[in-house]
Parts: sequence; structure tokens; C-alpha cells
Amino acid sequence: MEVNTKKELLVSKIRNGTVIDHIPAGRALAVLKVLNITGAEGLRVAIVLNVESKRIGKKDIVKIEDKEVNENEANIITLIAPTATINIIRDYEVVEKKQLKVPTLVKGVLKCPNPHCITNNDIEAIPIFKTIKAKPLVMRCEYCEIEINENDVLKQILGSPQA
Ligand code: CTP
Ligand code: ZN
Repeated sequence: MEVNTKKELLVSKIRNGTVIDHIPAGRALAVLKVLNITGAEGLRVAIVLNVESKRIGKKDIVKIEDKEVNENEANIITLIAPTATINIIRDYEVVEKKQLKVPTLVKGVLKCPNPHCITNNDIEAIPIFKTIKAKPLVMRCEYCEIEINENDVLKQILGSPQA
């Protein structure tokens, strides 16, 4: 929870949309990145960074108004924020808490590290990675079969090694 008995909520509750809670501290911006939210689309978004969490020490929270994150988006969030809970809000009530699971296929989000891979040489070839193992994460390029691990995925999305 982002409240305790003495403090106010840092950001107010939302009427409709999605609250992504329990994001590992420092990764909220990466979560927005995988959702392709830049701010330019005009969505109202609240970002809370590095607040205390009973469950995970410090956490980030993202609240997106008037957008419900879908199953596919939720699964991609799992790649970078495995502790996250995704709450769908309708009329101020939490109507769904999405169960996160590592996606079996990730299309167009991850880049193949192999410079000779067709996905790096043909702009029409969209990179597809298949999950080989969820814990610890191992994914394999569908084209050149090179394997990447959780750190590679984090590095790509966060632009730095695991935070
Ligand atoms: N929330 C919100 N607006 C709403 C309802 C909930 O911003 N109208 C936020 C809450 O502040 C919380 C998250 O959505 O960050 C999940 O809400 P809730 O399930 O009520 O809180 P918790 O019981 O703390 O959730 P959890 O089970 O994830 O600990
Ligand atoms: Zn490849």
C-alpha cells in the first residue's frame, strides 16, 4: 500500500484505468516505455518513484487514467517488473488484479543482439523471442536462435544493467 495511517496518498485514487503497483524501485519509467506511453498521447498518468513498500522495500507505482492494460501488455511488464500487481479500476473500485506470467512469445519489443540476425538486417523482419525458461528467464530469437537472459532483457529496456 502507498498509504500509512499518518500520511496522505501521494497521488489520488483514479476513477477508471490501471494502477501498476509494486514495481521494483526505479523501473516505473521502463514500464511506461514497454507500454509505449510517452506522454504525447495525452493520457493522464501519475508516476510515483521510490516509495516505501512493506512487501518489497521500495517500490514505484504507475497510474494510468482511462486506459486498461491488456493481457499482452501485462505479460510484457512481467519481463521487467516481476513483482508488479496490475489493478484494473472502474468507477473507483479495483475490479481485477491481473495475474502476471512471463509471456511465451514477445514480438517487436526486444532486439536481437546478433548483428548477423535477419531482424537486424531486414527492416521488415520483426524480432520474435520465445521463452525457453521462466525462472531464471531465458529467451531465444526465433530467427537465429541466440539466447538472452533476464539481465539482457533489463539492459535493453532500462538502458542499464539490473537496478
Ligand atoms: N487505487 C487507485 N485508485 C482506485 C483504487 C485503487 O489508485 N480507485 C490504487 C491503490 O492506491 C493501490 C492499488 O490501486 O495502490 C491497489 O488497490 P487496492 O487493491 O485497494 O490496494 P491494496 O490492498 O494495497 O493492494 P495489494 O493487494 O496490491 O497490496
Ligand atoms: Zn536473432
